[in-house]
Amino acid sequence: MAVHTRDDHHRGVFTVCGSLGEISANRAALHVVHHTLAESAVPVVDDATLGVIPPLQPDLVDTPGDAVATFRRHIADASAVIIAAPEYAGSLAGSVKNALDWVVGSGELYEKPVGILSAGTSGGPFARQVLAQTLLWQGAHVVAQLGIPAPRTKSDASGAITDAATIEAIRAFVAAVLAATRLEPSARTLLSTQVAATVGASRSLTAPYPIEV
Ligand SMILES: Cc1cc2nc3c(=O)[nH]c(=O)nc-3n(C[C@H](O)[C@H](O)[C@H](O)COP(=O)(O)O)c2cc1C
Repeated sequence: MAVHTRDDHHRGVFTVCGSLGEISANRAALHVVHHTLAESAVPVVDDATLGVIPPLQPDLVDTPGDAVATFRRHIADASAVIIAAPEYAGSLAGSVKNALDWVVGSGELYEKPVGILSAGTSGGPFARQVLAQTLLWQGAHVVAQLGIPAPRTKSDASGAITDAATIEAIRAFVAAVLAATRLEPSARTLLSTQVAATVGASRSLTAPYPIEV
């Protein structure tokens, strides 16, 4: 009899919160993500490096220091990555863009399934668009996306998300990311093209991999 294992997720999910705020809607969304992953017994590694990753220094991409090395290793070790990023001034939070720029040359995001979400006033359409575009550029597969507008109206006084529809949307988003880890790379490429198109990002705007930096 065949024995089914959880080896499709055995390396777990790496989660990145793009907000460094004390009370953060994106962190609150990630709490629901973590809870959902725990229910499925999927291991989680949560990023702790974003606030200490230095501005990209192109001369140091091969000797980047501990924070970048840890960030890269956690991407490499994960079956999937989930990024929750705020939208600032009509674009992706700079800290997230900067961290992802450190991975361009090292290639850990290549063919990696990535789920992207943005919680914030508008639901972060521009943050998701730029995030998808920069991920596609690195050859990542953008397999699920979610915007959470007006998060304060969906949260309690502590900032925890309490709105049932929002919690359900986050759970469906997590399920989509996990399902994508089981797809063949060619099927994931197709899915990624479709998901990216929903946020206005296109593979036709990306460079071929590998990218010279
Ligand atoms: C500097 C700054 C710029 C912002 N720009 C936008 C924006 O362009 N679009 C938007 O929907 N919200 C914008 N906001 C509001 C954020 O969506 C909101 O503060 C959100 O809760 C941030 O995420 P966090 O709670 O996880 O820190 C901005 C907030 C800050 C602090």
